[in-house]
Amino acid sequence: VKPENNAIVIFGASGDLTHRKLIPAFYHLYANGLLPEDFAILGVSRTVYSDQEFRDKLRSALEENEKTDAAILTEFCEHLYYQALNTSDADQYTVLKQRLDIFKDTHHTQGNAVFYLATPPSLYGVIPECLAAHGLNDEADGWKNLIVEKPFGYDLESAISLDKQIHACFQEHQIYRIDHYLGKETVQNLLVFRFANGMFEPLWNRNFIDYVEITASEALGVEDRGGYYDGAGAVRDMFQNHLLQVLAMVGMESPAAINADSIRDEVVKVMQSFKPLSEDDLTNHLVLGQYTESDVRGKHLPGYRQEHGVDDESRTETYVGMKMFIENWRWNGVPFYVRTGKRLPTRVTEVVIHFKKTPHPVFGANAPENKLIIRIQPDEGILMSFGLKKPGAGFESQEVSMDFHYDKLESMNMLTAYERLLLDCMKQDATLFARTDAVRACWKFVQPILDYKEQPEHLFGYAAGTWGPKEADELLMNDSRQWRFPC
Ligand code: BG6
Repeated sequence: VKPENNAIVIFGASGDLTHRKLIPAFYHLYANGLLPEDFAILGVSRTVYSDQEFRDKLRSALEENEKTDAAILTEFCEHLYYQALNTSDADQYTVLKQRLDIFKDTHHTQGNAVFYLATPPSLYGVIPECLAAHGLNDEADGWKNLIVEKPFGYDLESAISLDKQIHACFQEHQIYRIDHYLGKETVQNLLVFRFANGMFEPLWNRNFIDYVEITASEALGVEDRGGYYDGAGAVRDMFQNHLLQVLAMVGMESPAAINADSIRDEVVKVMQSFKPLSEDDLTNHLVLGQYTESDVRGKHLPGYRQEHGVDDESRTETYVGMKMFIENWRWNGVPFYVRTGKRLPTRVTEVVIHFKKTPHPVFGANAPENKLIIRIQPDEGILMSFGLKKPGAGFESQEVSMDFHYDKLESMNMLTAYERLLLDCMKQDATLFARTDAVRACWKFVQPILDYKEQPEHLFGYAAGTWGPKEADELLMNDSRQWRFPC
């Protein structure tokens, strides 16, 4: 079913996110016939463009970066409009309201609207207030949804106060806090894999699982986002949101039904069960790192401090690795080792479930481990490894595996994360968006790390192109384990 006709207002329309992610996502949804029968996309930012200039600019960006069809692109561009506006000046929103009124006639939008905040975070509180000042939060004539990009807050206190500010103007059911990891097919698949198969769920607990690894490694550095990243760091940029969401999908209980409330109730329960970090955890179970310049296979990689927009004495972490626990009946005592970093050897996001060894090693101490590797990206799929008898004399075992790769599915029409989430928002489905209590639970867990990382001596260097600081290896070695090094 297609979403109802609506207008989409993108604040921050001249920015990178709009060009790189949002407009391509809308284009692909349109080309696949998934957008409403009629709609209008209104870009808003300070820079002055005419509608035509905005269309031309986006059209060339789409032609350059995406696979497009000229006729479809022409039709799509007829839905694009632009309005220059000082987004923090409520008086100027009169013109925005007028344009939305016009779309009711020209695009039959029925007063339905999505407001997408793709702006610097400092405007996340102001824009809703300005919208409300003109009644653009009022659902008497059509629904009004607000999409808020991450980071939602800078720490626990600012997240709470941002929430209050937005809640003064919009109700929770209107607020869609985006975490694009939840839009990834393979992250959603964690739920189906766990709760649609009778085979895995009985083993999915502390009785059978030894430990869990979650890795999100990136080969790239901060690229041209140094200005933003230097004030954020890996803990705020990746760990507080994407990684803790993935962890919640691995750790949560089965929802009673597949709907936004049931699923998000379970997500928040597991997040509220993260074992609070003690001084000892911070000192011994957390490693923060920053990449330094290095030469990898004849290529020179700059250090983080040499990146554009980064302070040359920056103490911002580009790597975080930690051991954490979920304190509940299912997971008590099972360590979750979680790591993410930039300028690591490869780009991969995966969850590895390590099952316990058999109680008595009849085939010797070196029998292979049972592992389940859930590859979130790239090469999305699942791999299970186990031991089999080596053919020949004796009873030696060897590790073998069974795997499934998403690209083998015949009817492969995977939506990108942004496509899926934009579509869900237009359909009023908040299942894959972070609810206020979940965001708060994550900040609450992460806050001690934010305080700890303020102390400069808590940062270790690692050569760009390697798997992070050696202290992160020691984190597992101290437990007689080691990280999996995915390729
Ligand atoms: C973003 C972060 O949210 O996620 C980036 O701000 C990071 O720093 C990106 O590179 C990773 O997303 P993906 O989908 O490429 O894993």
